[in-house]
Amino acid sequence: ANPAVAIVGATGAVGVELLACLEDRGFPLSSLRLLASPRSAGKTAVFRDRTLAIEALGENSFAGIDLALFSAGSGISRQYAPIAAAAGAVVVDNSSAFRMDDAVPLVVPEVNQAASEGHRGIIANPNCVAIIAAVPLWPLHRLSPIARVIASTYQAASGAGAAAMEELRASTAAYLEGRHYANTVLAHPYAFNLFSHDTAVDPATGSNGEEAKVMQELRKIMALPDLRVGITCVRVPVLRAHSIAMTVEFERPVGLDEVRAALSAAPGVRLVDDVAGNHFPMPREASGQGDVLVGRIRHDASDPSGRSVMLFVAGDQLLKGAALNAVQIAERLLP
Ligand code: A2P
Repeated sequence: ANPAVAIVGATGAVGVELLACLEDRGFPLSSLRLLASPRSAGKTAVFRDRTLAIEALGENSFAGIDLALFSAGSGISRQYAPIAAAAGAVVVDNSSAFRMDDAVPLVVPEVNQAASEGHRGIIANPNCVAIIAAVPLWPLHRLSPIARVIASTYQAASGAGAAAMEELRASTAAYLEGRHYANTVLAHPYAFNLFSHDTAVDPATGSNGEEAKVMQELRKIMALPDLRVGITCVRVPVLRAHSIAMTVEFERPVGLDEVRAALSAAPGVRLVDDVAGNHFPMPREASGQGDVLVGRIRHDASDPSGRSVMLFVAGDQLLKGAALNAVQIAERLLP
């Protein structure tokens, strides 16, 4: 029989996309239960031409559920994912709660699908930047071992949730009209601005929480515990796609033709590298579709050894960075 599915956080930025991915991909399910906070109880959402009621999440929400897709923050996942798993559901969790737990697989299907097989009821969906970076890094590592990655991100509002997307829209409108806008979601003015990622900086390392997640999650996903990663994460006034400038240092010199060939053949990657047209990955083009766009492929001029290659990447934070990756994990659990 097809699985009975629940979405926890169905009203959120990612939750809405989970619903859309299940519908668009024709995910075979026998029933769908939409869960959110008590504030949303009584609201409705449409799935396959049927109106479904949104229910308040509770301890009894998982009776009869086979697959639970969680995207309501770490606190909710910590509290309810074990309850869902104990009730017999497989949980695919979009929060950071269990990602670095040794007993929990952290999966990007194009990279480490096999890791899912060892799950004990919970599979973690990685951080959005880690997913969008891993999709092109993995075929490059298969081409030739990677020693080091240096990256800077250009991260969209969606990573901070639906309310942050609304703050970007509202504060941009206010700025254009010359009105004062008082932030309620992010700590800094967002319109026509950018700022270091809103997670706290660890004084011991100098890295913020987002940077730490990406570094450790990339090592776990790619099973490269010694991979050296340096990263700066920045929030930019873009709605829903993250971009990343990456310098990839290989252990040996690599040719750009072999890099391009490896990326063109890679699942989940689309080359957007039109040098004559100056057309490269852009967040607007990455939005609303599932591929990670890759371009600006060139040698790093500061490394004459030919071992370092620079790339510019863009991927939809809500789709491949979150909902789509979770649904792809779930599809591979189907009998
Ligand atoms: P709600 O809309 O009822 O607040 P986002 O990442 O876009 O901010 O979305 C967060 C999601 O998590 C929303 O669906 C939100 O539901 C849900 N959520 C927040 N707090 C709770 C809670 N205490 N119990 C269940 N769902 C919650």
